[in-house]
Amino acid sequence: MKHTGFFGQWGGAFIPEILHQTFAELTIALRQAQDDPKFWQEYLELMSSYSCRPTPLTFAENLTKHFGGAKIYIKREDLNHTGAHKANNVMGQGLLVKRMGKKRVIAETGAGQHGMATATMAAKFGLECTIYMGEVVVLRQRPNVFWMEKMGATVIPVQDGSKTLKDAINEAFRDWVTNVDSTHYVLGTACGPAPFPEMVSWFQSIIGTEAREQILARHGKLPARVYACVGGGSNAMGIFQGFLDNDEVQLVGVEAGGKGLSTGMHASRLCGQDASPGVAQGYKTMFLQNSDGQMLETHSVAAGLDYVGVSPILSDLAEKGRVRFESATDDEVMTALDLTMRMEGIIPALESTHGFVQAFKEAPELSPDEAIIINQSGRGDKDIFTIAHAFNDPSWKQFIIARAREYSK
Ligand SMILES: Cc1ncc(COP(=O)(O)O)c(C=O)c1O
Repeated sequence: MKHTGFFGQWGGAFIPEILHQTFAELTIALRQAQDDPKFWQEYLELMSSYSCRPTPLTFAENLTKHFGGAKIYIKREDLNHTGAHKANNVMGQGLLVKRMGKKRVIAETGAGQHGMATATMAAKFGLECTIYMGEVVVLRQRPNVFWMEKMGATVIPVQDGSKTLKDAINEAFRDWVTNVDSTHYVLGTACGPAPFPEMVSWFQSIIGTEAREQILARHGKLPARVYACVGGGSNAMGIFQGFLDNDEVQLVGVEAGGKGLSTGMHASRLCGQDASPGVAQGYKTMFLQNSDGQMLETHSVAAGLDYVGVSPILSDLAEKGRVRFESATDDEVMTALDLTMRMEGIIPALESTHGFVQAFKEAPELSPDEAIIINQSGRGDKDIFTIAHAFNDPSWKQFIIARAREYSK
């Protein structure tokens, strides 16, 4: 994928003058890396020795029997180092940073997974690291914050706006404008000004390349459908790229339906009626915004999907009808998570479980000769507080109370 920065009418780089030179340098570094086969080789070696690539494609035999339709396969991005697909992007950008000779990285993080991955990369490559995280999310994802700090990163809770991902992105851009010479901004998803959407998608394409080879080897033909959750869109872009040129493979992106699309408490940009085209945070896409262009508040049980914008590449693929977009509510996510844990012994992240919800709705309507793939973007361990609370688990509550007593002594 080599682009000018626009995908149909979407994308672009609407950036302040002061960042032009930096973006130009980044684009040149990216092009040089793309034209140098040794770069991708180095990337593959790093991902197989530091992360767990290739990640397996797991046949979910019990879920398949339960639904009685298509064979359900799960692409296990949760088995990456730090527990999510975020490592693919971060390690790739880390290699670019080394080539560019910068000494400091900054990043925003939603669920904390991208921050965790960036902190590990910075520790490994000896870079100074600052992570911006909405204050709301710092409270929701304390364990990730703890580990980031232990790995030497400075975590800054962002108190502006809704104190979620979009505010963390704004703050990271503010930092970058002040420190352009020393610093690279490791953007965590396929959003933002060019070349980020293309660059992040390129690193994540490793998911789709592997998944395609694995399903052909296991099932003998391409899958009927591929499902992925969509926050900013990087894990979806990652797996979809393995199948984009095969129109017979339906690609399904699943957004956060939150409390329901009619409640206004969701983060569905490409399905539902609440989003409209706009330019913000340096790029043009479908944003959840009011008629004055002010960003709306979003809601999802999954912090990583709680974002107002979406990849411009996905806005384009939606407009072209190549990717179908659906949404899953918080309640549906909890039910699907419960079933997956019990039947397969797998704990998907709340973000990833959105993809499972839609796959479970559609698997029974397909024949057993067909296969579907769900991209499990991450593991659910980080969500233990949210999940235990949602399941209203009494012994967990007792554990928390006992711990709180211990600490307040
Ligand atoms: C496990 C997991 N899945 C999915 C996402 C959503 O991001 P994206 O749409 O870029 O894959 C996040 C974001 O934090 C995440 O942590």
